[in-house]
Amino acid sequence: MFCIPDELLPFFIVTEAFLKLKAINGFKDILPDEVVRWQNIESIAQDVFHRFGFNEIRLPIMEVTELFARSIGQATDIVEKEMYTFADKGITMRPEATASLLRAFIEHGMHVQQPVQRLYTIGPMFRHERPQKGRLRQFHQINAEIIGAVEPEVDAEIMAMGQMIISELGLNASLEVNSLGCPECRPAFRESLVNYLRQYNDSLCTDCRRRTESNPLRVLDCKKPMCKELVQDAPSILSSLCKECHDHFQQVKDSLDLLDVQYSINRFMVRGLDYYTRTTFEFIAHDLGAQSAVGAGGRYDGLIEQLGGPKLPGIGFAMGIERLVLLLQEKGENTLGRQKQTDLFIAALGQDAARYSSILVHCLRKNGFKAAMDYSGRSLKAQMKKAGRLDARYTLILGDNELEQQVAVLRNMQNKEQENFSLKDKPIHWADHLKKILTTSLPVHERTDIIGREI
Ligand code: HAM
Repeated sequence: MFCIPDELLPFFIVTEAFLKLKAINGFKDILPDEVVRWQNIESIAQDVFHRFGFNEIRLPIMEVTELFARSIGQATDIVEKEMYTFADKGITMRPEATASLLRAFIEHGMHVQQPVQRLYTIGPMFRHERPQKGRLRQFHQINAEIIGAVEPEVDAEIMAMGQMIISELGLNASLEVNSLGCPECRPAFRESLVNYLRQYNDSLCTDCRRRTESNPLRVLDCKKPMCKELVQDAPSILSSLCKECHDHFQQVKDSLDLLDVQYSINRFMVRGLDYYTRTTFEFIAHDLGAQSAVGAGGRYDGLIEQLGGPKLPGIGFAMGIERLVLLLQEKGENTLGRQKQTDLFIAALGQDAARYSSILVHCLRKNGFKAAMDYSGRSLKAQMKKAGRLDARYTLILGDNELEQQVAVLRNMQNKEQENFSLKDKPIHWADHLKKILTTSLPVHERTDIIGREI
């Protein structure tokens, strides 16, 4: 029978108690291998953002509840039932980033510094939805906004940017576009839609029956088969646009054509947030199943003023990182999930060797290399195993004997070749020598450290 030694007993008791504690439903850990994939997604997005002249902004996760009620809309699913609100404190964990970003924009008078601002932010959002594949309660968005530009070319530009991120990740998604009109033309459309929907009240789902009065446009994108069928003959928003909205939409389409961005028109797309005016769009990846929108956004020309800011237009989108990760997994894209190789592992054998090794490891790390060693003084075999686990390119075998003989062994872990490594000079020179070997053995395009400096 397996017996737990007395000295280890407290650890086992803690472990058993701990096993009962799990992450909350809909909240997920992102483990180290997966984080590498996330970092790649974020860095590709950031790279594209910088090319398009965007600057990063970092925002708090909590805001006053009123901000979301006034922007996203009181009659939306998000505000009605999905927010994580601390009612006694009047604050809410942000369900999306646009409202927070605009709050910051207004609060800091950012338009005074620059009339057109291009901002991006990346981070967690919180919505109490029913968790399923591609739908979490804490999820992460890559979010981009252009504030202060009303030109239709900008709508096309931001959609082209979203499409560029998706394609630079090696993914495919189709772009669907619609226009929701403006406060001038939408009320008439709303009225004709309500009149149409009321005729079919008995056939609509319970939610849509309620929405017919509170938020009728949402009925247009209900996923229930019966509602979907009924709205096929509903009036089209695109036929109700005023001249300005019609012309704007036409120019958006022309600009997309000019940039050779493929898209289709979806007159049923209305989005789940009330702040949109004119252009709305979604990036749809059918491989995702029911949660097929990998990104979405649109124009919100009245929102900044509505939140107490200057009368400025805006447009933006957000992409769900979890959904991008799912798409990459589905594509069998494993290369993104690899940790960076360790450049050098030092198998230190003996006390003096360990002291010298720690200096060497520190020196290499300072110079941009990924270096590691084992402080436990285990056998060479155990340390070589660790070097394998760390995916080391080279291992330096450095024992007290080697120090005495002034020569260590450097093993190339790929081709298993070994060479003598001189320990004649001072340790600082050993580090220089190692740096040279580690750099010249890399392909030219990889000769940069983790932050891109040449090594
Ligand atoms: P949204 O459509 O609510 O828009 O979300 C944008 C994207 O976030 C979705 O297309 C999806 O990829 C991801 N997403 C949303 N909810 C979840 C969830 N529960 N689990 C996983 N992923 C999710 C907005 O949030 C707007 N603020 C976008 C925007 C920016 N409009 C203008 N500027």
